[in-house]
Amino acid sequence: MKSLKNLCIFTLLVAFVVGMPFLSSAQDKIKITVACGAVGLEKQLTDEALAEFMKNHPNIEAKSLDTPDLANDRLGLYLQFFQAKSSEVDVFQIDVIWPGDLAEHLVDLNQYGAADVAKEHFPAIVQNNTVNGELKGIPWFTDAGLLYYRTDLLEKYGYKEAPKTWDELEAMATKIQEGERASNPDFWGFVWQGNAYEGLTCDALEWVASHGGGSIIEPDGNVSINNDMAIKALERAKGWVGTISPAGVTGFAEEDARNMWQAGNAAFMRNWPYAYKLGQADDSPIKGKIGVAPIPGEKAGQSAASLGGWQLAVSKYSKHPKEAAEVALYLASAAEQKRRAIVGSFSPTVMSVYQDKEVLEAVPFFGNLYDVFINAVARPSTISAPKYNEVSTLFFTAAHDVLTGKKDGKTAVEELELDLQDLMAKK
Ligand code: GLC
Repeated sequence: MKSLKNLCIFTLLVAFVVGMPFLSSAQDKIKITVACGAVGLEKQLTDEALAEFMKNHPNIEAKSLDTPDLANDRLGLYLQFFQAKSSEVDVFQIDVIWPGDLAEHLVDLNQYGAADVAKEHFPAIVQNNTVNGELKGIPWFTDAGLLYYRTDLLEKYGYKEAPKTWDELEAMATKIQEGERASNPDFWGFVWQGNAYEGLTCDALEWVASHGGGSIIEPDGNVSINNDMAIKALERAKGWVGTISPAGVTGFAEEDARNMWQAGNAAFMRNWPYAYKLGQADDSPIKGKIGVAPIPGEKAGQSAASLGGWQLAVSKYSKHPKEAAEVALYLASAAEQKRRAIVGSFSPTVMSVYQDKEVLEAVPFFGNLYDVFINAVARPSTISAPKYNEVSTLFFTAAHDVLTGKKDGKTAVEELELDLQDLMAKK
């Protein structure tokens, strides 16, 4: 009995001594936390990349931290970390509209090796991420608003190609919806992002710009939103609510639209590139029936896509900015962008990836619609920084008021103009 007890004690001792080095090495590891998105394939892709990174960096333990899907909620969370000067998160996935607003909390990545690789990325995005000469984020993926359509349904109803104008889209959506309703009462013509949040800023900017109504605040600071074409654009979108789009679209974000579309219940959808690969998954009811085209215009050729996209930034409050930057640069590297493009249709920011055969095969519209990506319309974040978030909130609130019938288009843009002028004067 006694010898059994001794054996147990001895075994425990051995286990402890043998385990010590492992325990201490785990403790000595530098921990890097990456706050990032988790929509669709995002989390899986990021976690796979971090696992790969750790294989070659045994001294670093890198993990992802899920953040809210909606850009505004994500920003709210980030601001809490920043205001507390928290070192809990080292790397932040930041929106293309945030470098100016968040600059004071972020390190200059050029000091941590990014200067060597920045030239591989689209110069306009690098420029966007540069604040007072400092690179505040390394581009990870870019986004442009796209029109998704059901190739099978266009064919069934006798249409040869995607609509080039909003009038055409309305006519096609109406006809397809009427026809499909006979067998599917849940079917709608067109789904998009109408909730009062950053996504509506993107959609509504597309409506306005594709009507020739400018881009809310122009790069020279002129508040341009109070014009007839902007009014026409907003009134047109209001006309979709409850006709070709569900009444509930005024509460829709990207994933709400995608869920309806991917279930086979919509003819057209406005969304970002990520929706493509998810819709082409083996278990997707619309696999093989997805077309992608530029957003229509008021006239053919007057298409406009909002520029979106995400960067990786390193917090000034990180205890390990060097290692954090290493993680960020690895995630944003050409090889990783290629993998994310193929698996998840995330549009690269590294220009050469658009020439890669495997990428073009996996996501053909990266080739066909290359122009859409490079000509996308920027939201007025640079000119209004550090107040862009307030500008956007005023804009999407005004657009939402029109969509829900709270205000007519003319009143909404007149009031918005004054509010924006006020805000810009105080900046
Ligand atoms: C996408 C875009 C981002 C935009 C957001 C709005 O994630 O990449 O730039 O702000 O959608 O919902």
